[in-house]
Amino acid sequence: MDMDYIKIPDVYHGYALSHFCVPKHYEEDLENIMIPWGLIQDRTERLARDIFQDVKDEPLTALCVLKGGYRFYTDLLEKLTALNRSQGSVSVPLHVDFIRLKSYENEDSTGEIKVIGGDSLTNLKGCNVLVVEDIIDTGRTMTKLLDILHQHQPKSVKVASLLVKRRPDSTGYKPDYCGFEIPDRFVVGYALDYNEYFRDLNHICVINDNGKKKYAVP
Ligand code: HPA
Ligand code: MG
Repeated sequence: MDMDYIKIPDVYHGYALSHFCVPKHYEEDLENIMIPWGLIQDRTERLARDIFQDVKDEPLTALCVLKGGYRFYTDLLEKLTALNRSQGSVSVPLHVDFIRLKSYENEDSTGEIKVIGGDSLTNLKGCNVLVVEDIIDTGRTMTKLLDILHQHQPKSVKVASLLVKRRPDSTGYKPDYCGFEIPDRFVVGYALDYNEYFRDLNHICVINDNGKKKYAVP
């Protein structure tokens, strides 16, 4: 298991928007690019390899946490299925499952999570579950989700999160697989949203005050 995270430091200015392609409708709403799309792909390829090597020949139920996790999920699964095709002597049968949670409004955690959709959790009984999340912020959502999942008696549960935020109020929860540990900034893009905006942005970017104001919930 790889607990040796890639750490993006607190003092970090990322990349200028002008050096990459960003949709025109978001140009004024972003401070910088924290993680370009290509780097997300390269890191995801390695996470897929780590997961593949840990799971070996057991079936794996990959549970996508919607909506924010959907791009990381599809890219991670694409890389896992590529390993299934190329590594002749081992393969991991994959099951695809979805869960939809709601826990945020504006940039603050309301401290509440609700399962508002997805597959029936009774499917998870006896399965090796890999929860696929976009971001672990305080850790409260994940801790609550893990409680809910354990009530359905899976064989095992592991968590892959693309991002883990360094927050002073973190519960200390650490996922089994993590793409990048990031500073305490609000990030959007690659399916991470701010009030449902910015999911259609490829890179992970820091939102600016203009963007927060423009897309605030009235
Ligand atoms: N961006 C988007 N969604 C989030 C974040 C973030 O920084 N933290 C928790 N949910
Ligand atoms: Mg999420």
